Amino acid sequence: MSTDSVDEAALAEQGVDLEVAEKAAPDRDYKVQVGDPLIQVQNLTVKFGGLTALDNVSFDIKRGEILGLIGPNGAGKTTCFNAMTGVYKPSSGKVLLEGGSIGGMRRHKITQIGLARTFQNIRLFREMTALENVVVGLDARHRTSVLGALVRSPRHIREEKSSIERGIALLEFVGIADHGETLAKNLPYGYQRRLEIARALATDPKVLCLDEPAAGFNPAEKEELMALIRTIRDDGYTVLLIEHDMKLVMGVTDRIVVLEFGKKIADGLPHEIREDPAVIAAYLGVPEDDIA
Ligand SMILES: Nc1ncnc2c1ncn2[C@@H]1O[C@H](COP(=O)(O)OP(=O)(O)OP(=O)(O)O)[C@@H](O)[C@H]1O
Ligand SMILES: [Mg+2]
Repeated sequence: MSTDSVDEAALAEQGVDLEVAEKAAPDRDYKVQVGDPLIQVQNLTVKFGGLTALDNVSFDIKRGEILGLIGPNGAGKTTCFNAMTGVYKPSSGKVLLEGGSIGGMRRHKITQIGLARTFQNIRLFREMTALENVVVGLDARHRTSVLGALVRSPRHIREEKSSIERGIALLEFVGIADHGETLAKNLPYGYQRRLEIARALATDPKVLCLDEPAAGFNPAEKEELMALIRTIRDDGYTVLLIEHDMKLVMGVTDRIVVLEFGKKIADGLPHEIREDPAVIAAYLGVPEDDIA
């Protein structure tokens, strides 16, 4: 669990370049303290015609934690993300950020107030470079007007320069700084996944939602990605992580929420979840590798 004070020696030991971390770090004002609920999902229900994909689900995401959202295929994990980030309008229920409802907000507004996400299927600007993809994310946070951009006001020029610097720092932070000039479509798959994370971080989110960021990775790549997610948390971000691989989730998350058929069936610490009979039953019938 991260705190407001940063243990610089410990970070340096983990190989975190503090100068890079400084530039990439979040600089948001929070209304809630570390450990208090940053997001509250309250009785969220999403229906598609006759199908209830998410059924009266409630949970909190505490500031500074990595919360795992797990469950078998079709359990409603992505639907939950989509309802939280404005992609779907919930049939009922609420999502609060720092106590304020984000229901009915447009997607870009939700990004602006601090909720960023990646997608289960990568969505990058394929014809743009890695750096350009990140700078686009940074622009979502900028305050200059369109007119300011057109006449290149001093503020716009300053923001443009700092965008590029911060973009490079973010690429470095996720470990792909050498590929800033590479077109997104030409990046190896694993780097595309990392680029998506950098782009989401560029919006300076209070909560970063990752939808199966390690899908399609081999075990070593998965471990590396989980290390990155831990570093992101240690840097002061709050993370909601959807992941299919139970073993992986156990190693990286602070708390876990389990969905099955759209309903929440468990909510607790990793060791509690591992021993929960309802969770074990939900995962029966899936390959053992996904469980142990
Ligand atoms: N846009 C949609 N229209 C209709 N049904 C949908 C839609 N999106 C999801 N569903 C259905 O809602 C249920 C939950 O799907 P969801 O994608 O949220 O599951 P998931 O937990 O993310 O699964 P996975 O692990 O396979 O990604 C499934 O039955 C799915 O078919
Ligand atoms: Mg999904």
